[in-house]
Amino acid sequence: MAAKNRETLQPKINPNTNRTRLIAGNWKMNMNHLEAIQAVQKLHYLLRPADYGFAEICVIAPFVDLRSLQLLIDSDSMGFSLGAQNCYFESKGAFTGEISAPMLAKLGVRYVLVGHSERRTIFGEDDSIVAKKLKAVFESQMIPILCVGETEQEKQAGRSSEVLTRQVQIAIEAVPDELLKRIVIAYEPVWAIGTGLAATDVDASWGASHIRSVIRSLRSAAVSDSAHILYGGSVNAGNARSLIDSESVDGLLVGGASLDPEEFARIVQS
Ligand code: 13P
Repeated sequence: MAAKNRETLQPKINPNTNRTRLIAGNWKMNMNHLEAIQAVQKLHYLLRPADYGFAEICVIAPFVDLRSLQLLIDSDSMGFSLGAQNCYFESKGAFTGEISAPMLAKLGVRYVLVGHSERRTIFGEDDSIVAKKLKAVFESQMIPILCVGETEQEKQAGRSSEVLTRQVQIAIEAVPDELLKRIVIAYEPVWAIGTGLAATDVDASWGASHIRSVIRSLRSAAVSDSAHILYGGSVNAGNARSLIDSESVDGLLVGGASLDPEEFARIVQS
């Protein structure tokens, strides 16, 4: 596709919500930097300028890919934003193996996932660690994508709303309203992640509305109306449309299906 002008690649405001939409692909621990470059080039080729008007499109890549993708996106004036999957909450020091928020900001990273369920369950991140990371991301002028969601067991026990409320409440406790207005929260029911069993549009809409109402009750309507709330969990080109159609859902956080540029492009275009 011919070079696209960056100005035409800005997402339009959704008139129903007064917010823009965001579609982000979380690659998880997949794609080395060479594969990452190829995937982003292919995605760039597949998308039309109008697709960028529908939603901001973000690639959330492993740390080792970020520098290559930053250079590629800048040099070819691509319309993607760059995301990272995690960071540590301290800004520097003796924390072997960790990556700080200021380091990511220097790489042109705009979004950082915080509290993804795989971090919570496999790496033992609890709500208080998630809160510290969220604060660190904001302090480096990036936007956290806070991931929240109940497990199958919690859902069966009728505890979904209690779990979401707790996760959101603790995570945002120390964040001032002005920053909180910029937050992205992804409702990712754990039972829908990587299972092929996506939530229905009704479930997704319920989760997003509940999260918004928690922010409203803890802060204000102005803050909750500004926050972006995404749905994630087994999103594919077949279900993307109905999931994003709900008024309370501002976009999608796509895992497995974002690894195939053709499928990811179909999700954006659906
Ligand atoms: P899947 O789309 O593979 O279910 O993963 C969802 C996810 O965890 C996105 O962060």
